[in-house]
Amino acid sequence: MSRNDDLKLKVPAGSPMRAPGFIFGVATSAFQIEGASDARLPCIWDSFCATPGKIRDHSNGRVACDHLARWHSDLELITSLGLDAYRFSISWPRVMHADGTINRKGVGFYLQLLDSLNERHCKPFVTLYHWDLPQYLQEQGGWPNRDTAFRFRDYVDQITRALGDRVYSYVTLNEPWCSAYLGYETGVHAPGLTDKTLSKKAAHHLLLAHGLGMQVLEQNSPATLNGIVVNLSPSYGATDSAADRAAAVAADTAMNQWYLKPLLQGVYPESLERLPVAERPDIQADDLNLISQPLDFLGVNYYTRAVYKADAAAGFVQVPPAPPLTEMGWEIYPQGLTDMLVSLHEQFDLPPVYVAENGAATADVIVDGMVNDATRIRYFQQHLDALDRALERGVRVAGYFHWSLLDNFEWAEGYAKRFGLVYVDYATQRRTMKQSAHAYAELLRERAAANGGTPAGS
Ligand code: FCB
Repeated sequence: MSRNDDLKLKVPAGSPMRAPGFIFGVATSAFQIEGASDARLPCIWDSFCATPGKIRDHSNGRVACDHLARWHSDLELITSLGLDAYRFSISWPRVMHADGTINRKGVGFYLQLLDSLNERHCKPFVTLYHWDLPQYLQEQGGWPNRDTAFRFRDYVDQITRALGDRVYSYVTLNEPWCSAYLGYETGVHAPGLTDKTLSKKAAHHLLLAHGLGMQVLEQNSPATLNGIVVNLSPSYGATDSAADRAAAVAADTAMNQWYLKPLLQGVYPESLERLPVAERPDIQADDLNLISQPLDFLGVNYYTRAVYKADAAAGFVQVPPAPPLTEMGWEIYPQGLTDMLVSLHEQFDLPPVYVAENGAATADVIVDGMVNDATRIRYFQQHLDALDRALERGVRVAGYFHWSLLDNFEWAEGYAKRFGLVYVDYATQRRTMKQSAHAYAELLRERAAANGGTPAGS
């Protein structure tokens, strides 16, 4: 392979990914890029950032990528990539007042963004909740309080009316496992609590919020594609021993099936019955019907796999990842994407699937105005190949979104980890397209030309 080939992205001839209907996009989220925190209500991540020791570089989301002020030029970047779609999230505390009425000024930003995306034929995929719960709701108990699911429903009702017909697809929640488990059990994410019981309650109320949200979407926005995005870490045994294989199954049940089964089959895994009564969520009569309403699509995020060994006390423990690793310390394991998609396809009657996030943090530096992120391009290529193998096995994958458009606030890691296709110099807010961005644009140009057209957005 020549050095130049190393900087390219390819999709094999004949792959469904080459067809014009397959959606290629990028993803971002509000708290991670918007900044302008004074112009909205505080959220749980503002409070978490203000708590000493929670964010590795002591940073916060006050400015982030200053996207609210710079959205116009960021949109030019999206356009220049020739993307079919842009997945971003709405900041709940920006668009709703604490009294439950809509904040017209906050909504105005999203209306402009949506209109511009539509003018450029770039499909807007709108995530309604990407972790930035209004702080006043946390003060009333947050996700462990059942009422929060109903407040989410009210917000979805108001925002969908305000956005009208500008949206292509709605995602109710991004990665409820992270909100529940990292937020309320391990405490490494906002609101930073460490309580198993609260975490299980939060998980159930997040799923309920999704169900209530889907009901509103069906009513207010039946023409959009409506679904949810979950993060799944395919689970593997550390060895082939029966004990380690059983540990992997137990971990899969607790982490992945806990969300998939209620959403896709309207039941919780049987292991729910083995939880101490005090740790069980309060599941009311109609909850599972609401949670399992038909989805127009299932979004799955994939970054890495998880490897487990048996543990007498806990049942399973995760073993530290082995190289090759990204800057996050996450193992690069593209086959996990194929395995995850194929196993979903085998276990469930699936709607079309989107890979709603995939990407890598790499050690990017600007040299002579360029960022040569060959490691990211290689990761990207390996995962496109892995996706292609899943398509060959019959999984209906309708699109792929790379995380992320811009380097941004990587939650507990702050700004030190760079996932962007576009480099952000935080001192000047200057954006520089990395080689991976050029490679993505070239792939989309080449695909469009082969399909007899120009890429979307250009
Ligand atoms: C996912 C999140 C996203 C980003 C990536 C790296 O879990 O959805 O916001 O932080 O990880």
